[in-house]
Amino acid sequence: MSQMLGVALRGTGSCLPARVVPNDEFTDALNLDTSDEWIRSRTGIRARRFASLGETSATLGSAAARTALESASLPATDIDLIVCATVTPDLMCPSTAALIQASLGCRHIPAFDVSAACSGFLYALSIASQFIRTGSAKHALVVGAEVLTRALDFTDRNSCILFGDGAGAVVLTGTPVLNAGVRTIRLYSDGTRQELIQVPSKVTPNPAPGAPLQPRLEFIRIVGREVFRFAVSRMIELIELAEVDCRELGLSGIDVLIPHQVNQRIIDAALESTGFPPEKVVVNLDRYGNTSAASVPIALDEALRTGRCKPGDTVLLVAFGGGLTWSSAIITL
Ligand code: UT7
Repeated sequence: MSQMLGVALRGTGSCLPARVVPNDEFTDALNLDTSDEWIRSRTGIRARRFASLGETSATLGSAAARTALESASLPATDIDLIVCATVTPDLMCPSTAALIQASLGCRHIPAFDVSAACSGFLYALSIASQFIRTGSAKHALVVGAEVLTRALDFTDRNSCILFGDGAGAVVLTGTPVLNAGVRTIRLYSDGTRQELIQVPSKVTPNPAPGAPLQPRLEFIRIVGREVFRFAVSRMIELIELAEVDCRELGLSGIDVLIPHQVNQRIIDAALESTGFPPEKVVVNLDRYGNTSAASVPIALDEALRTGRCKPGDTVLLVAFGGGLTWSSAIITL
């Protein structure tokens, strides 16, 4: 068997729609029974971005991928694999990854989507890393792209204030240094709790013969309080597991924690319980809300571009969401 390779993070990029939607828009334009004060104090969100007409997961994902390729100094024709994480694909078929492959002008490489909601980017990162580790791909593009605001019920104050649109991307490259770049990835799911977060499908399931037709789910639905509890406990567990995973560094060897951007109170509760230093945590949910699979790569790209982290730093990425799913990764940049 040929030798296993390390997986270096070679470039990052992101793309946010231009349209900023501040909290006040829910009360002023949509007459929703909420307030800027409630949203800020209960979630930390001040604004989010909404995709405009013509903007989709594929267009945002392609733009994020182009920026990632630029930062990696690689032409699109060098990419050997595209994995796109999304629960809001432009179409059920072809995949969003295939649309990105066409838009970038890549060769006839493998391109496919992964569905794991807010954990999707780390699931996609894990798959692409394994292609690279085994030498099946030299350069891979991993994208998280979402337009969840297209599935929002603007009469449901429990959910519609939480989400925003956007995309983030990274370029991974094989390296002979085995422990460089992506060090560990953990992925989990629990489908028995599927009802806590649901995003509608455009495909209606076939009913069993003789069974009554089910009403179609049209909008995203969440059981917020339950998800909150789940998210805090999983984030605590994933931070504690990171200490096991990077035994030689210890938790103090983690320079930056990038959690899924969902609710400031979830992040604060997990930090308080684990004692992880808040000054090492990257938060941008105040500006973008919850962008699902795009949240972690957008925050990673922003952290690198603003100097919150730099090459050589070790980052812990943590995500949780529909499925239920939860996941983490430790990467040395
Ligand atoms: O990434 C995965 C998807 N994300 C999630 O599922 C979100 C996770 N959950 C959360 O972030 C929080 O649970 C929420 C922000 C959704 C809700 O915050 P909470 O502190 O857990 O509130 P709650 O659900 O316990 O509701 C408290 C009250 C309720 O009123 P009553 O029953 O006490 O009269 C809600 O109806 O707050 C009310 N409420 C609101 N009030 C004003 C819920 N949403 C709003 C709102 N504005 N937007």
